[in-house]
Amino acid sequence: MKINKVVIPVAGWGTRSLPATKNLPKEILPVFKKPAIQYIVEEAKAAGLDNVIFITNKNKNILEDHFDYNLSLEWVLERTGKMELLQEVRKVSELANIISIRQKRQLGLGHAVLCAKEVVRDDPFAVILGDDLLFSSVPGIKQLIEVAETENMAVVGVMPVEKSQVSRYGIINAEEIGPHIYRVRELQEKPKVEEAASNLAIIGRYVLTPEIFYHLEKIFDPNQMGELELTEGLRRLAKDNKLLAVRLHGMRFDVGHWVDYLIANIYFALQDEELRDDIINRLRELIPC
Ligand code: UTP
Repeated sequence: MKINKVVIPVAGWGTRSLPATKNLPKEILPVFKKPAIQYIVEEAKAAGLDNVIFITNKNKNILEDHFDYNLSLEWVLERTGKMELLQEVRKVSELANIISIRQKRQLGLGHAVLCAKEVVRDDPFAVILGDDLLFSSVPGIKQLIEVAETENMAVVGVMPVEKSQVSRYGIINAEEIGPHIYRVRELQEKPKVEEAASNLAIIGRYVLTPEIFYHLEKIFDPNQMGELELTEGLRRLAKDNKLLAVRLHGMRFDVGHWVDYLIANIYFALQDEELRDDIINRLRELIPC
């Protein structure tokens, strides 16, 4: 199994982030100096995934534009001698080949993935959610690809969460078969705390086989009003004994969660030598002891 395509769903409404996302995609919200989506595409690139498939909607062209050249801006930067900025701006345009597919109705993550079927075709592929940031010495998605390629199987990324948080996630019921590797027996979508089989939550990283399309198509009803959950398709892979999970290491921030989003900004700002002391002092002013 060789993986070189990544599907990045970015078509959601981002209702948790309103009113910021009334006219602005959640995935373009800046996390310190870069839009969230840039970290995601950089992670894909670092894992050798050069072909990026955005599942997008008609209000989200700004996301594709971010990865295209902005020749007028480049001209201004060149003319004013701001060569470092020029290089940085150009580098983003050269990061990846972007293919965009419209999800015309936001019918959930399962449906968003299904939209990629005609482009992905018969190849296994990676999925990274456009609002789920993960920072680690080995890129999050690469941690999954390594296992998927050796085991020849679909793999989901999981991380332990506080027991009280399980109802926000898809939770796995699984047996550990190697260090940080699990065979998934069953999945629960947003279970109640007392019913959760574990505290291992599926976070926004997957390596999937084209079989997932078969399952999603089988469940999908074009007249449905509710969401087509990806978990439903994964559950069927698990039932056929064809799904593994890898416990990811790294620091994770959900851009759609305000506390995570703000902490992500502070985390990056604190790594900037020039700003660090100033930020710490300003934070101290905000929280007088
Ligand atoms: P989320 O559930 O976090 O995003 O989906 P959302 O639906 O935009 O946000 P809320 O819950 O209303 O605040 C995770 C990722 O999947 C994409 C989103 O854009 C996000 O990056 N997504 C979600 C789609 O592409 N299509 C969908 O139908 C749903």
